[in-house]
Amino acid sequence: MDRAPRSVSRDSFASTLGAFTATVGSAIGLGNIWKFPYLTGRDGGAAFVLTYLLAVALVALPVMVVEHAIGRRMRLDAVRAYGKVVPGQPWWSLVGWAGFASAVLIMAFYTDVAGWVFAYVAKSTVAAAQGQTLGADTFGALAGGTWEPLLWQAGVLVLVTAIIAAGVSGGIEKATKLLMPVLFLLLVVCVVRALTLPGAMAGVDYLFRPDLSKLSGTVLLSALGLAFFKLSLGMGTMTTYGSYLPDRVRIVPNAARVALADTAISLLAGLAIFPALFAFGGTPAGGPGLLFVTIPLVFSKMPLGGLFTIVFFVLASIATIGAMVSIAEVPVAWLVEKGRVRRPVAAALTGGAMFALGITATLSQSPVLADVKVFGKTLFDLYDFASSNVLLPVGGLAIAIVGGWLVSRSDFLAELAKGAGGVPWYGRAILFFVRWVAPVFIVLILLSSLGLLGG
Ligand code: TRP
Repeated sequence: MDRAPRSVSRDSFASTLGAFTATVGSAIGLGNIWKFPYLTGRDGGAAFVLTYLLAVALVALPVMVVEHAIGRRMRLDAVRAYGKVVPGQPWWSLVGWAGFASAVLIMAFYTDVAGWVFAYVAKSTVAAAQGQTLGADTFGALAGGTWEPLLWQAGVLVLVTAIIAAGVSGGIEKATKLLMPVLFLLLVVCVVRALTLPGAMAGVDYLFRPDLSKLSGTVLLSALGLAFFKLSLGMGTMTTYGSYLPDRVRIVPNAARVALADTAISLLAGLAIFPALFAFGGTPAGGPGLLFVTIPLVFSKMPLGGLFTIVFFVLASIATIGAMVSIAEVPVAWLVEKGRVRRPVAAALTGGAMFALGITATLSQSPVLADVKVFGKTLFDLYDFASSNVLLPVGGLAIAIVGGWLVSRSDFLAELAKGAGGVPWYGRAILFFVRWVAPVFIVLILLSSLGLLGG
């Protein structure tokens, strides 16, 4: 890190975001309420949850610290930050370029799912107006359709593009800040409802009593990939946000709080879904539709359930927006700062690319492209796998190597010292995790998922 911090006036999105809410707003999204429960159900319940928690603490948290430190030190978009952070080694900008690719891949399926969430707001409102609850076939008809999911996806992308083009207004930020606690409370309501159903304890066991025989290289990689995906790591999002962090923010406590808040929301979503699922005799391996089938079911059994369903999906839609904006911000920041493209144009270009690939993800859920399989996966699953389980962990590995080994130790610790009035006591411990623990785990998990470690 040869570059002294300088104060640049970056665009409005950056300067108006509070450090904690910005990062939490990026972290909390579909990963918590959709992906975490669905992968837990698919990949072995509590054994998966346990691995996931370890991956967050041992691997993801150190990587987040590095991303924030490098971002704030460099005060540049991710591509240029990694290209310049190690003097004489410009090729690390590849980390930022891979982030570009990940951003488009992730948004291709993320906006499909976000479209379902928005559609559920409309559908649950219509159902409630007619005094009904959502039918069990709602999800299959929506996700398996052709034009309907595409239109919702396009709508989502137009909204995200518009928000980015305008810069994030104080209104949206304030709304998110206010609504996150409401999302939290509503999840607690769901959890209480789910836990008081007869037979709910089977779901709690499923989440928290690990059967370690379920662990395999594939499961480990899936948990690691989720840890990166959840905390928006490995592709430059947190580097970009780090570049917007004020100097008085203490990076490690901030990152730890983000990880805790995010994990709490995921566990609550799990506690809302699995007990209810077991109580109603559903199957945990329900796949991507799990959230959309279970939540309306949980609420349908309680007074004002229709209203709660609407509120739940409204809050979920809001949570997706902060996450999507943060994903798209990686290419947009580069286009604006380096490419000197105007912000609205950058947003439109990014949104267009995301929609082009997104169409293929969405249609792979419908008969149109359902038969197209690459490595035995539908395109939707392929984009998810390629980003979460390949690009993000490999990106995270590169980031840990840069932060732990190539950047000077004193520069790294100096960044942690800001706001703390000196190098904090945990500085060396974090450095040890960045140098050894995170990279070693990532490499071992990648190897074992390839079947290279035997068994
Ligand atoms: N963390 C978000 C979620 O859980 C998704 C997300 C936002 C993301 N920014 C990212 C994932 C960057 C990977 C990389 O929904």
